[in-house]
Order: sequence, then structure tokens, then C-alpha cells
Amino acid sequence: MPSKPFIIVAIDGGAASGKSSTARALSERFHLLHSDTGSYYRALTAEMLRQGASAGDLESVKAALAKITLGTRVEGRSARIEICGRLPGEEIRSKEVNEAVSHFAAIPELRNSLLSYQRGQAETARDGGFAGLVMEGRDIGSVIFPDADFRFFLHADPAERERRRLRQGQVDRVAERDRLDSSRKTAPLSLTAGAISVDTTTLTIAEVADLMAALIEGKTPVP
Ligand code: DC
Repeated sequence: MPSKPFIIVAIDGGAASGKSSTARALSERFHLLHSDTGSYYRALTAEMLRQGASAGDLESVKAALAKITLGTRVEGRSARIEICGRLPGEEIRSKEVNEAVSHFAAIPELRNSLLSYQRGQAETARDGGFAGLVMEGRDIGSVIFPDADFRFFLHADPAERERRRLRQGQVDRVAERDRLDSSRKTAPLSLTAGAISVDTTTLTIAEVADLMAALIEGKTPVP
């Protein structure tokens, strides 16, 4: 019997649009390696802050980037980033990181430092015996894997997204982060041609995941 093809699923969308929960559900359903690239930007931001770098001072960012090496630790179905051999902790969800991450993520040099790292996750998934890769972020379908087999774009009403973050116990100004992430020059958050747009405002995670899974299995014609 021919072996199943390796698939790449790209999920982009604003803060709290439902990317992580649905990416995790798809990774479980199809045995895909899950890469949460927002956590990579958060980890780098925490590291920049730890080193005293400022997003307004490019030289300080370049100097801090030059001191770090990146690695991946696969835990279950999740590809976690290691910075200089260390897994980042809960500090990546802190108020300080929430406020700083969009500013650091707008810096092309910092984005470049993650480019081949993120593409390399496809090899990590193959080497790990996964059936594919599901990667979530802001520029996955536009920049990282424009040829992904499936490209989804999730969005939801901003008030509902703030509520989701509050339920997670986080203070996160999602509309402000989206404004910064959508208006930056390099790899802005945007709905690219050919991506499947899903409004998650009134849907449960299971409903969104079922919809996406049906599309992946080819049961539902692409809207
Ligand atoms: O998905 P998240 O909210 O954890 O992402 C945190 C920030 O990282 C987000 O505000 C913008 C940045 N980011 C990015 O610029 N590109 C990505 N592919 C993923 C995240």
C-alpha cells in the first residue's frame, strides 16, 4: 500500500483567534507535529528582555541574537524551542512579554533568526515519524510555508478574543497586538489569497477543529 503523504498545515490568525487549540486538536487527530511559532517569538522576546535588549535599539537586539543558539525539543506532539539548551518557562505568557512581543517581532533581523529554524521543523516532523506538521502563527501561509497543503486563516470578534484571554487568566490587549502585527512592514498578519478563512467567534474549539479536519480529509468543498 502506498504510504500516506506528509502534509503541512499552516494556521494563521490574530491573538486568541483559536489557533493553538485547533492546531493541538489537528495534531492529535492526524498525528502531526505541532509548532506554535508565537511561543518562539515569545521565547525570543523573553530572552531579549533578560539580556536587557530594547526593541527600539537594533544594535542591542543584534548583539543579544548573536549570543543565542536555537534548538528543538519534541515533547509529545509539540515542537518546543530551546534557547541555549534551555526550554523557556511560563514567563513567555507574562504581561511584560505580551506587551513587548509585537515590537520585537516587527524587527526583520529577529524574524530572520527564526526563518530557517521554522522551515526546519518539517524535517524534525519527518525524522520523528509524524504524518505531517501543523504550524501556527502570523506568516506561516504567507512566508514560511506558502506552498503548505492547507492554509487556514482564523479570525474572531476582538471582544470575544479579550474574553478568551481573561478566561485563561491573562492580561492581553489583543486588538493592540493585532494592530501592530498587521501594520508592520515585514511579514504582516494578513489573509493571503487561497487561504481558507474561518470566523471562530461563535464556534467551539471542537467545531472549528471538525470543520478544518473535514477540509483536510477532503469531505467538504473549500468555501
Ligand atoms: O500567537 P501568539 O499570540 O502567542 O504570538 C505572539 C506574538 O508573536 C504576536 O503578537 C506576533 C508574533 N508572531 C509573529 O510575528 N509571527 C508569527 N509567525 C507568530 C507570532
